[in-house]
Amino acid sequence: MVKQLFISILFLFCLLDANTQAPPIYGAESIHHPLIAEQGMVATQHDEATKVGLEILKAGGNAVDAAVAVGFSLAVVLPRAGNLGGGGFMLVHDAKGGNTRAINYREIAPKKSDKDMYLDAQGNVDNKKFNSSYHSIGVPGTVAGLCQALDTYGSMSIQEVIAPAIRLAKEGFPISHDLAHVLEKYQTRLRVCPETEKIFYPSNTSTYKAGDILIQEDLAWSLEQIAQRGSKGFYEGALAKRMAEDIQENGGIIQTNDLKDYKAEEVDVVKGTYRGYDIYSMPPPSSGGVHIIQMLNILEEYPLGFLGHNSAETIHLMVEAMRLAYADRSEHLGDPNYWDVPVKWISSKKYATDLRKKISTFNANISEEIKPGKVTDYESEETTHYSVVDKDGNAVSNTYTLNFSFGTGLVAKGTGILLNNEMGDFSAKPGSANAFGLIGGAANAVEAGKRPLSSMTPTMVFKDNKPYLITGSPGGSRIITTVLQIILNVIDHNMNIAEATHAPRIHHQWYPDILYTEKVLNADTKRLLAAKGHTIKTRAAMGSTQTLMIRDGLIFGCSDPRRPDASTLGF
Ligand code: GLY
Repeated sequence: MVKQLFISILFLFCLLDANTQAPPIYGAESIHHPLIAEQGMVATQHDEATKVGLEILKAGGNAVDAAVAVGFSLAVVLPRAGNLGGGGFMLVHDAKGGNTRAINYREIAPKKSDKDMYLDAQGNVDNKKFNSSYHSIGVPGTVAGLCQALDTYGSMSIQEVIAPAIRLAKEGFPISHDLAHVLEKYQTRLRVCPETEKIFYPSNTSTYKAGDILIQEDLAWSLEQIAQRGSKGFYEGALAKRMAEDIQENGGIIQTNDLKDYKAEEVDVVKGTYRGYDIYSMPPPSSGGVHIIQMLNILEEYPLGFLGHNSAETIHLMVEAMRLAYADRSEHLGDPNYWDVPVKWISSKKYATDLRKKISTFNANISEEIKPGKVTDYESEETTHYSVVDKDGNAVSNTYTLNFSFGTGLVAKGTGILLNNEMGDFSAKPGSANAFGLIGGAANAVEAGKRPLSSMTPTMVFKDNKPYLITGSPGGSRIITTVLQIILNVIDHNMNIAEATHAPRIHHQWYPDILYTEKVLNADTKRLLAAKGHTIKTRAAMGSTQTLMIRDGLIFGCSDPRRPDASTLGF
């Protein structure tokens, strides 16, 4: 009781103190510094793609032109996550119109899908079929999404923005140490498909070394089909035929009319507020936006800045907010075209007030008592995020993926295109966990034409109606909590964007009932958290954010140091 009162007094003190300072940026104010530029900035997971985005901006293209060029280029230089054969979500801020919109280009379940398609004769989930077979492939959305963004908000032609990707595929690019490493690491899985082996390995007994040049002729041909006919070059004609035929010859169910009927959709962003800032993020079928707002609403009433960054008190409150949000995810989130997702309720301040009553500042909740479940854990380096800002204040926040690293690992013959395993993000059986340990139910059951639930969270934070932060991350189920921490680090803990990016991260997702921390989290803090009842596990680095901040008429950017090859460039 006395302690609760103490926290309340701290909170009042913190409210008086909140948001009066801007994060330190210059000179020796900080040990981490962002890149600073005036005209435009691009942050991506691969230096070659960042350079492409910058070239487009310098040639007079806007943020969307650059973002589309980056999207096609990453499909060449970052094959584990950049893609033509996957899907994703893009937020676009159109400065002139004052609008921020979302483009949903998530994959959809083929017409021949049905809810029991991944169950074996005993009614158990056949994990191979679900996650790594020709049945795991959702109808790809990336090309439709990128082309729609360009048609609606771009200023350049498809030929102009796709040319750098064609050049990179045709002439090749030097393989980085990281790419050489992952190709070696995943070779058992990738060599299963002769078409994949032909592209990514010099022979059936050797691997590429860093510095070798990777040329992808079939991928260049596919990109040329898109250059000639836009989205139709992918979804109709020779390329669509090659993809559908190859998938069907190998037992899959995607047909040419699945491809022909694919449509990306432009939708409203999901909106919330946090300590005077506006939060715009991705609506369902991503769970990211709804739950970012839900967690921020829960946390808004606690004096996190005063309690301190990554103190045991602050982490405890964050974990309890995460636990409650991920429990709701399992029950209520799915494709809104097929399921009535209660977005308004989950993202309301009123519901957050109800949820806070379940949080004790002293003791950890027990997930079993919040909602039952049983899961497995999985680690992968899938998905990639990039952010772009131009001189006119337009901004793009884009996250797209093949799901696992290299998706299914299967390349459609003669296309150079790696195919996603996004069907694995559905809930194959109510109450069962997907590969990320996320539990789902009827809301996310498999259904023809439906989009699987995602955690991808491209997000923009606005201050005084102008974009302030443009951010997002890969990391499967950890995407949402990673983005949450970037926002809290800036708003509550007054960090500049480099500090916010570099700071150690934590994660909890309700099930398993484990608080994951990066290894650099202070050992004393872990002991205090354990005393509150948290079960703690150290795990590998989480997320890889690419974040831009706009303030004082300047652009500040930082690529996450957690994964190699990323770069932020500006001018
Ligand atoms: N495939 C990971 C996600 O969409 O969340």
